[in-house]
Amino acid sequence: MQEKYIDEARQGEVMELPINFGDEQKRKLYIESYGCAMNFSDTEIVASIMSGNNFTTTRNVEEADVVFLNTCAIRDNAEQRVWGRLRELKLVKKNNPDLIVGVLGCMAERLKTSLLESEQLVDLVVGPDAYRDLPNLINKVDSGQKAVNVLLSREETYADISPVRLSTNGISAFISIMRGCDNMCSFCVVPFTRGRERSRDFDSIVNEARLLFEDGYREVTLLGQNVDSYKYTNESNGEFCNFANLLEKVALVNPLLRIRFSTSHPKDITDEVLHTIVKYENICNYIHLPVQSGNSRILKLMNRTYTREWYIDSINAIRKIVPGCGISSDVISGFCSETEEEHKDTLSIMQYSQYDYSYTFKYSERPGTLAARNYKDDIPEEIKNRRLSEIIMLQRELSHQSNKRDEGKTFRVLVEAVSKKSTDDMCGRNDQNKMIVFPKQNAKKGDYVYVKVHGCTSATLLGEIVEKGS
Ligand code: 5AD
Ligand code: SF4
Repeated sequence: MQEKYIDEARQGEVMELPINFGDEQKRKLYIESYGCAMNFSDTEIVASIMSGNNFTTTRNVEEADVVFLNTCAIRDNAEQRVWGRLRELKLVKKNNPDLIVGVLGCMAERLKTSLLESEQLVDLVVGPDAYRDLPNLINKVDSGQKAVNVLLSREETYADISPVRLSTNGISAFISIMRGCDNMCSFCVVPFTRGRERSRDFDSIVNEARLLFEDGYREVTLLGQNVDSYKYTNESNGEFCNFANLLEKVALVNPLLRIRFSTSHPKDITDEVLHTIVKYENICNYIHLPVQSGNSRILKLMNRTYTREWYIDSINAIRKIVPGCGISSDVISGFCSETEEEHKDTLSIMQYSQYDYSYTFKYSERPGTLAARNYKDDIPEEIKNRRLSEIIMLQRELSHQSNKRDEGKTFRVLVEAVSKKSTDDMCGRNDQNKMIVFPKQNAKKGDYVYVKVHGCTSATLLGEIVEKGS
């Protein structure tokens, strides 16, 4: 999946539902979420479904009646983490033999019933399109059986379910606008675990954004594996909406609601989207445009359906139409048969694109994917590692240069929280998605302030408020 990756720190996060009156009678659910922002957003849907079925959550696994791991299958190490966690949970189960352990999400979809067989660790296996069935499946486990639902759907978008906002700062929220992926990048397991692409009704998206704004949220991130292929036709009046139209509709909810989106695909991003970004001040000038590789032969093997030249044209279009736009990328090292020269093409396209940030990965063969079936995973581990560290080192340099270029500039910042390092400071991001830390003065969470940047660390800009914003 082309996902916006949430920070490492948020992976495996424990999520807690708001405690409601009468919770003493409710059963207790403990959820951990692994992987991408889409999974995080799905966990909020799961929490909503469960809270409607006599569950409340707990942060303490020891007191849980049910534990859910919402899992990721994108690379082998993501799955290994979950196996490790399941083994730890086996020990918890020793003290509480009635504990129900469920595996949700992409790993559930990929491994299906085999998850039930190995090591007697799991009672419940539920794929990403089957969350509405969770209450029935829990009943089944209660009656002493194992329960599985890994059916994928062509329609399910959970459009009518109001996600329970979990572990949130009360300012930023994710809105899922579509599910699944039809792209079939050869390395990627997502089309198999999340099924066919389908878009959610735009009215329900705009409504969700409006409700969030009314609840005090000031930033929404529209999520999809490939947002540029969003399309929805309203059956009653025939109104058609593409991604540019959707951005516009959400931007119009309120000028004080910031809009972000992820992920864009280089083959699909349109000038219409870029012009829409420019037209509305509250649509952030930031695009996550994964390149994966800078070499056209490798891109063809990856089935990315664009070339190096096409990608460079997309970068040129962004720079021309949206000056000052933040751009980030996903990069894979050591894909099947990649030569040293081809790896250097990746480094040079990173240099050309001047990414502000990159999410960097070592190729990990996933069973069943086009690449696993057709190509040999033939780049030795030490070469993958060395290429990856060259990619990481270059990105560090590019991020540093990008931060240095920002010194002396003033940015509009949405105040998100008190800084982790000092309670005298607040932090928030600028349009380009860079975190800026600044002395608090009298700024509050949810305010917009103008911050002049005077310095930077490797990952953060440092500045001072020069003006209260609106
Ligand atoms: N190996 C390594 N990285 C992968 N990604 C997806 N599948 C794999 C894989 N098999 C990366 C891609 C994608 C991001 C979400 O994860 O870069 O954009
Ligand atoms: Fe993203 Fe390609 Fe995977 Fe689809 S198949 S989720 S576009 S990497």
